[in-house]
Amino acid sequence: MTPKTPDVENVAQALKQVAEDGRRFMDDSSTRERLVASARALVLAAQTPMDSLLWHVWALTIDVLTQHCHHGQPTRTAAARVALDLKIFETAVENGGHPKSSEDLAAVTGASPTLVKRISRALVSMGMLAEEGPGLYAPNSFTTLLANKEYAAGIMFKLFELKVRQSFDINMESFAKLPEYLRNTNFQNPENALDGPFQYANDNKPAFSWLVERPDLFEAFHLYIHTLRQHRPSWTDMYPAMERLVEGLEPDGDASAFVDVGGSMGQILQDFRANVPQYTGRLILQELPEVVAAATEKGVGADGRIEMQAHDFFNPQPVRGARAYFMRSVLHDWPDAQCRKILAQLKDAMEPGYSRILISDCVISDEKAAWQHVSMDIFMMAQVSSRERTEHEWRALVDSCGLKVTGIYSKGDGNEGLIEVILPE
Ligand SMILES: C[S@@+](CC[C@H](N)C(=O)[O-])C[C@H]1O[C@@H](n2cnc3c(N)ncnc32)[C@H](O)[C@@H]1O
Repeated sequence: MTPKTPDVENVAQALKQVAEDGRRFMDDSSTRERLVASARALVLAAQTPMDSLLWHVWALTIDVLTQHCHHGQPTRTAAARVALDLKIFETAVENGGHPKSSEDLAAVTGASPTLVKRISRALVSMGMLAEEGPGLYAPNSFTTLLANKEYAAGIMFKLFELKVRQSFDINMESFAKLPEYLRNTNFQNPENALDGPFQYANDNKPAFSWLVERPDLFEAFHLYIHTLRQHRPSWTDMYPAMERLVEGLEPDGDASAFVDVGGSMGQILQDFRANVPQYTGRLILQELPEVVAAATEKGVGADGRIEMQAHDFFNPQPVRGARAYFMRSVLHDWPDAQCRKILAQLKDAMEPGYSRILISDCVISDEKAAWQHVSMDIFMMAQVSSRERTEHEWRALVDSCGLKVTGIYSKGDGNEGLIEVILPE
């Protein structure tokens, strides 16, 4: 399991180095670069491997956008992607993480040891691999994380164009073309899900249709979102599920249902089942047919507790008067116009005074927004012409549908919150 806290010894060591280099800098300003390097090493030491992954997958996106490429992020991101093909992370952790030369690392794939060395030293500079003597590589906790397919999926997903088109020129096309797209539209806020930066850069398709047509990437996308969640607080940690969902629950039929709308591979329902075993009503996963098929193949629903339903959330909701319609990271994928359509279908199915909509999404601060929220906001802009929303924007969106926000719950800076919505009686 990946560590949830950084190694205290490493942090202490890095702090000591910063203090030492700081003192040296005070006497001799020409040593500035050494101080910057040790300050970066301190950040790496204080981050958990998961922080580091999110930083690479989410935050560096913004650097590309704002063209702050002076740290060489595009080259580094490409190096990380190549490392996955070279199986460097998996190989590095083999034999208990015994240090390996570039020849050792190259043997697995038959790659050129020179190439492997160039990629490996880039990984060391990014904190993705450790170096224990010249050209001798060993895993650190970030390597161990990336040695797992489900974590590496984040890096694959970030570079999906690179993988599909096999051309470096169109790597991260949507981000690369975003500035040009915005110039061409006189810097209007992208609000059209069918005609935005993504369509400008890729085939003119809606983003999800584009993804569905590429099974490898579609799998990487679902693996990535699934894995990501395991390291963030669960919505059941912040929402009084017993009081709001279990008490007064109708025992059977549609009214007993907890419907996970756009629920991906079923992890949310599995977690809900484990965290709130007192919920004895039906558990229903609604997704695009391709996702339902993939989840079924992976055994989701095999024991009959979770029901699988292919359903397009722009169509009328088949489960009427459910206890809860849950959506995590669904509405942030869509501009307001489409969110209104999705919410209208739920509103139409809700039982006043009984049904609730639960929205698990970022609630971005009005001031000094968390880097995770800001990163996702730009991500949503470039990929789906959408946005992360402030509390005010959530309330305005929900109100405009004739629905009512009854509570906003959150836990920790930079995480998703939980918004409870009812149909006013
Ligand atoms: C960002 S993912 C979130 C998945 C899941 N709720 C989670 O948080 O792990 C958005 C999901 O919406 C699904 N989706 C997209 N368009 C859909 C549609 N028209 N109807 C139903 N699901 C859809 C996608 O397949 C994807 O799983």
